Amino acid sequence: MAVLVPGGAGYIGSHTVVELLNVGKDVIIIDNFSNSKPETLDNIRKITGKDFKFYEMDYADREKLEKVFEENKIEAVLNFASLKAVGESVKMPIDYYINNVSGVLVLLDVMKKYNVKKFVFSSSATVYGEENPIPYLESMPTGVATNPYGTTKIFIEQILKDIYVSDNEWDIAILRYFNPIGSHESGLLGEDPKGIPTNLMPYIVRVACGQLEKLYVFGDDYETPDGTGIRDFIHVVDLAKGHIKALDKLEKEGNGIFIYNLGTGKGYSVLELVNTFMETTGQKVPYEIIGRRPGDIAVSYANVDKAKEELGWVAEKDLKEMCQDSWNYIVKSK
Ligand code: WQD
Repeated sequence: MAVLVPGGAGYIGSHTVVELLNVGKDVIIIDNFSNSKPETLDNIRKITGKDFKFYEMDYADREKLEKVFEENKIEAVLNFASLKAVGESVKMPIDYYINNVSGVLVLLDVMKKYNVKKFVFSSSATVYGEENPIPYLESMPTGVATNPYGTTKIFIEQILKDIYVSDNEWDIAILRYFNPIGSHESGLLGEDPKGIPTNLMPYIVRVACGQLEKLYVFGDDYETPDGTGIRDFIHVVDLAKGHIKALDKLEKEGNGIFIYNLGTGKGYSVLELVNTFMETTGQKVPYEIIGRRPGDIAVSYANVDKAKEELGWVAEKDLKEMCQDSWNYIVKSK
């Protein structure tokens, strides 16, 4: 029995595939390389010494997807095939709703047809919206997202809840990621967004390697100790390991829909991250404080008790490792 991983060549998908292979799972990757590169697949093989099946296709292509389900014995699906740029989603909402929402509906419908009912969904801390108090708890109501990307996550969470009500043979884990950064310690996998990055760490590394002149820090007048925004940065390898624990739970206990925050439970400010990056890597990151970015909240971090109690999972890597590993990937890929 294999685990199907749409989006397995992407940033979080590739790190999760490594962990799946490390625990001895058979893996099938689907990817259309819309925001990833074919070399990543070879790098996964290099890191793990293991092989997997690969289909280059759009995960929402029903005909091709059905073929994948016919040709393989699939036990569970971990879906990472999703568009994820917040700003782009504001300009291209239709693309986001088609790819993220309609796409996942095709996938779930095909899963149902082939009686595969274990599903792990990549959700986001963004579903908590602006109203909930910090730290975020899974039991809090989801809020209103400030952009179409976030809305797709809220919609899909609701769709999954409705599916479970209709048929409680489904085993579903909804994982709400906080701010994943870092990369595999080998430096062979990492995050390399096309164009100018919008997330903080990818921007920092481009400044550090001289591709961008300076970092613009969005606001230093928040009600935080240094005035800059606070986020729960989590090492992507810890995040990937959280998926293994969630899949374990679905395999062993099953029959339920479970929601977990995947974060460290600690918040660091934008300037703390920049300073830790400079200290750890010895690279300079010139920055300028400018005005707030519309849609940003001051503080976001997780309560991580539920994942600890129910999955036995805690994030282990600290901010220095996150910075060092993000930088290693850039050094190695140049
Ligand atoms: C972090 C902090 C910025 C860039 C978003 C999505 C979320 C998730 C992760 C996507 C904030 C500040 C950033 C820069 C800066 N999804 N910043 N200068 O906004 O917490 O979360 O990405 O995959 O759903 O909303 O992450 O990395 O963009 O920003 O000062 O050039 O860094 O203001 O305080 P965010 P981020």
